[in-house]
Amino acid sequence: MSWRYIVVWLIIRLTLQTEMFHNLRLSCDQVKTSKHTMHPELIKLEKTFKPSILTKIDDPLLVRYEIELWMKRDDLLHRVISGNKWRKLKYILDNVLSSGADTMISMGGAYSNHLHALAYAGNALGLKTTGLIRGEQPETLTPTLRDMQNWGMELKFVSRSDYRLLRQYKRYDDLPGLKPQQYWLPEGGAQALALKGVAELVNEIDVPYNVFCAPCGTGATLAGIIDAVPDQVSVIGFAALKHAGFLQTDVESLLPRFSNNWQINQDYHFGGFAKTSAELMAFIADFGHKTGIPLEPVYTGKMMYALYDLIAKHYFKPGQRIIAVHTGGLQGKRGFTA
Ligand SMILES: Cc1ncc(COP(=O)(O)O)c(C=O)c1O
Repeated sequence: MSWRYIVVWLIIRLTLQTEMFHNLRLSCDQVKTSKHTMHPELIKLEKTFKPSILTKIDDPLLVRYEIELWMKRDDLLHRVISGNKWRKLKYILDNVLSSGADTMISMGGAYSNHLHALAYAGNALGLKTTGLIRGEQPETLTPTLRDMQNWGMELKFVSRSDYRLLRQYKRYDDLPGLKPQQYWLPEGGAQALALKGVAELVNEIDVPYNVFCAPCGTGATLAGIIDAVPDQVSVIGFAALKHAGFLQTDVESLLPRFSNNWQINQDYHFGGFAKTSAELMAFIADFGHKTGIPLEPVYTGKMMYALYDLIAKHYFKPGQRIIAVHTGGLQGKRGFTA
């Protein structure tokens, strides 16, 4: 009698699993078409967001070099899911909700802005979340990890070598051992669907410009920008980490069409990911003081330092208008003051 139960159970499980992945694929395709309407829970969440304004940086130094520098203030979007986090996650979350998945699993470091935003979003949308955290469990959780835990995320610490292996899994369904109802997001949420949300930040800009800049970690934000800007605009990504040559192919693989109006500058990593210097910290403090715009040292601080340096070296032609996106991540700053 027991084998009959086992066979029936297996058939039910297989049917559910096939149905689940069929739904996932279906909703991926629907999201790509313009007819798609967002899931009501996500519409409700988006209503709590504030506008991301475009601000001209008022600085006599820029006037001297005849350069206009504007910031797209995506950091103002939301208290937690700020900057490129919301842009990258928006259509992925929509896909998760409409596919019927109930758990999102992703990876990141102990100060990850991506996991922090994902944990918050999961909590707000009634989805379970699991974070695979790089390295050993610290004696005391970082403020970022504490927030994530408070929002219900299950934290699993993985060795640095296992973490590196996880980077090869880039699709929502290719993590080994993934169960039905579970949805995998690669590091930084770098999936094709992320580009659609990033395009929205570009499309909100209603002034002409020559150059568009963004900081780069996985390169997904940059790919979304490259895909959305007019062809004559030059796009520059500033790598936040050392040895970032891989970003070139990673961005290319995310782009839906060939484009040659972009480059990745690798000269301003300050020694590596999350490494800083007194000069960088002084620049961030001075910029905040002059403009009232807070930057953090991992991504936006390095990009703005780089831009000021390149402007002073006459890298840009006089009269050019540059847009730099403030990708948020200010919560990660707690790692530098703790
Ligand atoms: C604040 C902030 N800016 C920029 C980036 C880099 O974005 P991407 O990984 O899409 O290159 C990240 C990481 O995702 C980030 O947290």
